[in-house]
Amino acid sequence: MKLCMIGTGYVGLVSGACFSDLGNDVICVDRDLKKVNDLKKGIIPIYEPGLDELVLKNHTNKRLTFSTNLNDAVLKSDIIFICVGTPTKKNGNSADLSQIYNVAKEIRSSIFKFKIIITKSTVPVTTGDEIEKIFSKKLPKKLFSIVSNPEFLREGEAIRDFTYPDRVIIGTKDKKSNKILKNLYSPLISKGAKYINTSRRAAELIKYASNAFLATKITFINELANLCEKIDVNIEDISIGMGLDKRIGGRFLRAGPAYGGSCFPKDTKAIVTTADKLKINLSVIKSVIKSNENRSSLLLKRIFHILKGKVKNKKICFLGVTFKANTDDMRDSSSLSLIPSLVKKGAKINYYDPTGEKDDFKKLKNVSFSNNINVAIKNSDLIVIHTEWNDFKSINFKKKVENKKFIIFDMRNIYSPAKMQELKIKYFGVGC
Ligand SMILES: NC(=O)c1ccc[n+]([C@@H]2O[C@H](COP(=O)([O-])OP(=O)(O)OC[C@H]3O[C@@H](n4cnc5c(N)ncnc54)[C@H](O)[C@@H]3O)[C@@H](O)[C@H]2O)c1
Repeated sequence: MKLCMIGTGYVGLVSGACFSDLGNDVICVDRDLKKVNDLKKGIIPIYEPGLDELVLKNHTNKRLTFSTNLNDAVLKSDIIFICVGTPTKKNGNSADLSQIYNVAKEIRSSIFKFKIIITKSTVPVTTGDEIEKIFSKKLPKKLFSIVSNPEFLREGEAIRDFTYPDRVIIGTKDKKSNKILKNLYSPLISKGAKYINTSRRAAELIKYASNAFLATKITFINELANLCEKIDVNIEDISIGMGLDKRIGGRFLRAGPAYGGSCFPKDTKAIVTTADKLKINLSVIKSVIKSNENRSSLLLKRIFHILKGKVKNKKICFLGVTFKANTDDMRDSSSLSLIPSLVKKGAKINYYDPTGEKDDFKKLKNVSFSNNINVAIKNSDLIVIHTEWNDFKSINFKKKVENKKFIIFDMRNIYSPAKMQELKIKYFGVGC
């Protein structure tokens, strides 16, 4: 099939590369000229395990191409996926849909035969209705079908998640579109993905409801971790004990820093705002947002407590600064509030991240980057394990850290407190 992905970010590039690998002809379009030129040269703009090989393979065999020419790409394609950003509005908590509507208005003029227009971006319920209105103003109904097909991939596991999804959700009442899309996804369905055809509005809401629920699980276990710290119970035992109940499930039930990233913070805010407009109070999700916003200041207090209030001139090393492991995405990472707050209190921060130095910290005084774990931890008073990269899981701290009184604060509980005690390392985890 001939596909076009509008927006070549985490979602557009990964799904475009995966669709081309399944044998489709895919044009990935972006308005960012540098990104497109880099991709043409084989330079991948994001860190995502396995993505470079997949892009290179399919670009070389000409099934995957890159362009800035939106109208030409639409003209050449039968199925158009809109994968642009839907961030939180600058003034308020609702989703900023300007990128979506701009695309919808722009592509109308390139449609002369039937095309399926799909929102893969996460969009509030009824956005598809609005896109349909935009198209109907200029085009006869028989030339287009507006479908919702939310994406559930996770950064860091994106290729696996796209290729082996738990479910493919197609929101449309149009039988023709449904048949075509079932065919497009048939290689994934044959590997076990459940194919769900539902209404467009339901598909849009399924995505928000899923993200809000996952954010709730994380927040729930984070709050229980606070309790565990007071009663000498290890939160890991609680996660395992609860997670083995199949009704609950163990995933997204690991205590740690505040949830971040490009999805949960903005999507939880957007769903409560949508509901508020309809005079429905999603009070559970509202308290999740509040609790998560408070999480970083709680962890900051914990750092002060660990350092017995003496933060000034302390050398603190952060291992990992992105919002989670296996991604270079800094959007809403808790390090963005933790590091500046510690600097304000006089700490000297040195950090290492496998995905390199971050622009976000370049202008901050007393924050430096080391491009090697051993150098980063060498002179630390406190080592904060902020993300769960494999590179951080078997460090010989005793051998590598020169300051023998160093302390570890493991925000991901990747080390065993008992083992650390055996090694006589002063160690703190989350919820233990
Ligand atoms: N990142 C994730 O893990 C993830 C997972 C599932 C769903 N989503 C959703 O998918 C959507 C995209 O997320 P993302 O993380 O890929 O965003 P992103 O910011 O990485 O990429 C969006 C891209 O769209 C491009 N763009 C914007 N307007 C354009 C236009 N008019 N023409 C061409 N290109 C244009 C931007 O230049 C950018 O490269 C969001 O709605 C997000 O909530 C994201």
